[in-house]
Amino acid sequence: MRKILMIVAATLLSLLPGSARDSRIISIETDNNSLVLAVREDGSVYQLHYGARVSSSEFAAVPIRDGRYSAGSLAYPAAGGRFLDQPALHLQYADGTHNTELRYVSHGTVSTQGVLTTTVNLQDEIRKITVRLIYEAYPEEDVIVEHAEIVNGGTAPVTMLDYASSAISFRADSYLLSHVHGGWAKEMQLEHEQLGFGTKVIESRRGAQNTQCANPSFLLSLGTGELRENAGEVVAGALAWSGNYELRFDRTVDGRLTVLAGINPFSSAYPLAAGQTFRTPGMIWTWSQEGAGRASRNLHRWARRHALHSGGQMAPILLNSWEGAYFNFTADTILRMIDDAASMGLEMFVLDDGWFGNNHPRNSDAAGLGDWQVNRRKLPKGIGHLASYAHSKGLKFGIWIEPEMVNPKSDLARKHPEWVVGSRDRELYETRNQWILDLSNPAVQDFVFGVFDDVMKLSPDIDYVKWDCNREVLSFWSSYLGDEQDRFYVEYYQGLYSVMDRIRAKYPDVMIQCCSSGGGRVEYGELSWFDEIWTSDDTDAMERIAMQYATSLIYPACIMGSHVSTVPNHQTHAVTPLKFRFDVACQGRLGLELQPRLLSEEELALVRRCVGSYKTYRDIIETGDLYRLGSPLDSDFYGMMYVTPDRSRAVVFTYCLEFDTLGGEGHPFRLEGLDPGRKYKVTEQNVDRSCWWGDGASFTGAFLSSGAFAPSLPARYSSAVFVLEAQ
Ligand code: DGJ
Repeated sequence: MRKILMIVAATLLSLLPGSARDSRIISIETDNNSLVLAVREDGSVYQLHYGARVSSSEFAAVPIRDGRYSAGSLAYPAAGGRFLDQPALHLQYADGTHNTELRYVSHGTVSTQGVLTTTVNLQDEIRKITVRLIYEAYPEEDVIVEHAEIVNGGTAPVTMLDYASSAISFRADSYLLSHVHGGWAKEMQLEHEQLGFGTKVIESRRGAQNTQCANPSFLLSLGTGELRENAGEVVAGALAWSGNYELRFDRTVDGRLTVLAGINPFSSAYPLAAGQTFRTPGMIWTWSQEGAGRASRNLHRWARRHALHSGGQMAPILLNSWEGAYFNFTADTILRMIDDAASMGLEMFVLDDGWFGNNHPRNSDAAGLGDWQVNRRKLPKGIGHLASYAHSKGLKFGIWIEPEMVNPKSDLARKHPEWVVGSRDRELYETRNQWILDLSNPAVQDFVFGVFDDVMKLSPDIDYVKWDCNREVLSFWSSYLGDEQDRFYVEYYQGLYSVMDRIRAKYPDVMIQCCSSGGGRVEYGELSWFDEIWTSDDTDAMERIAMQYATSLIYPACIMGSHVSTVPNHQTHAVTPLKFRFDVACQGRLGLELQPRLLSEEELALVRRCVGSYKTYRDIIETGDLYRLGSPLDSDFYGMMYVTPDRSRAVVFTYCLEFDTLGGEGHPFRLEGLDPGRKYKVTEQNVDRSCWWGDGASFTGAFLSSGAFAPSLPARYSSAVFVLEAQ
């Protein structure tokens, strides 16, 4: 989105409405979706439709009446007037009043490199408040991103009590909400619930790590009562905001469902000074008539083409030191791991936590955060020595930082106690023995930028940075904000975003992973700057199947870090076959997170084989369309596949999750996304004897989609990966 805004060459399509009749209608369209707004005689702007592409002019005849119980589906409902439900905008004025009534002023659409941006200008004339509703329509991807700009044109400050990004309403017989919740090492747990009358809220109040509880995204199945993969109306939504958020689903007495999405108003009554403009984060929408599968593909394509810092980049296969060494290493340990990574055919080594701190060495999570100097004892020759060694072996080099944090046991904590977030009349609560720095403070922003910048100066051979964030905000208070504490939650992230802008201006090409105790920051806000997310600290392959499935509902595979770790798994203690672990990790950005010295010769041979094969199909994962073959939550078998946009190549992953007596005879998977008339050669990967009789032969897409493709998956943890190539 940001990229688009920066592009200069814009074509003016229309600034003013056309005929008097059409002037009532504002139409925001993609190839297959329409959002239709209408201006009523009194100037109120209503939403009449969001869903299938329609001829919007027919909506000019639709009568718009106030609802019996409230004002109905306003495009951006404000508290005041006849509106009684939860508003998108709730302002309190200096004289204490709460009433805002927004009326239409003008609208217009500009086209910028194929993206249609419609701005609807609304105003409360009495209070001189302007709201610009901005809808970016991405035609080919069927995605609409909405945000609002709220302008205080008055002479006195205004307090924003609610300031949502978007309010979209639906009318259907039933609304099934599918969304994810979870915590550390148990992120992305999918849940479905039928929405009855009343309100359902998905939110974060954690201040930081906003997805270590629930994700600011959802799928809504309209009228079908179930989440279907390939059929039925499904709306997907995701908020691009890394701080506290609120997604609110209000099913009102007249049967409507209104979804309000935006920054969480909790403790965030934001003061808007006279003349000031506030820009809300973007809310991303897509509508599909072909179930969840199409909705996900729309979002993935949009993300790769328009939203991600580096959509579709080929991610290097990495060895990360964390689970293989934790804090316990010397330079020799790392050099040996680099040797092993090179000999396994990997492409990058990442030095995780534990490399810094001298007065307070980082030998556990109890000390050192904030003191970003190389630990002389562990690494006497510095980082440059390790990084250039990695390069000499043909590997890229990455390094871990957690610049937003400080351990009480650190030089930084002693030097800058005023930078620590927390109420000074109470205990400064620690999480993982650490405090969080106050990024609303520009001096802290400079420090955090400086940490990144200084780390990059440790060696010209640093290619990748893993940026971690291992705690939430507790008992918030900022010494910088003084008596304006309600700005804290918003300005923490505005501060982080401005740091990321500076980092990207200086280091556009360095890869940056967004990690937060695993998947504590998985959302589209951060992804404008980051290249990758660390999906979860839970690396157990069986658990990962469900997590990666849920991640894929909203986020594309090209950002999803997925690593092979040792057994027994360090989180779940489960023992799973190495091939199963690879076949799961290969769904995303492949990495290893173990001590290679503990692998047997036989295991090393399998590692080399799987790594080699992944290199041949990784581009399909990073740039192709995803088709989920069922759900791992409903069946003993699960499959998923990626298909190149030209449908010439595909990679298919199949798994047995629970023993089934018939699994050995072959479980049918109906492959999707293939060209029915084309023949594809099917090759199973990483085995000497295939589990499907058709291995090595060619079949039409129609045949492969008929259910005839049925690999034998006899037991729990059986898995198979196939590459399909059009002949
Ligand atoms: C939490 C991350 O999720 C892990 O991968 C690892 O980097 C540790 N932090 C290091 O402290």
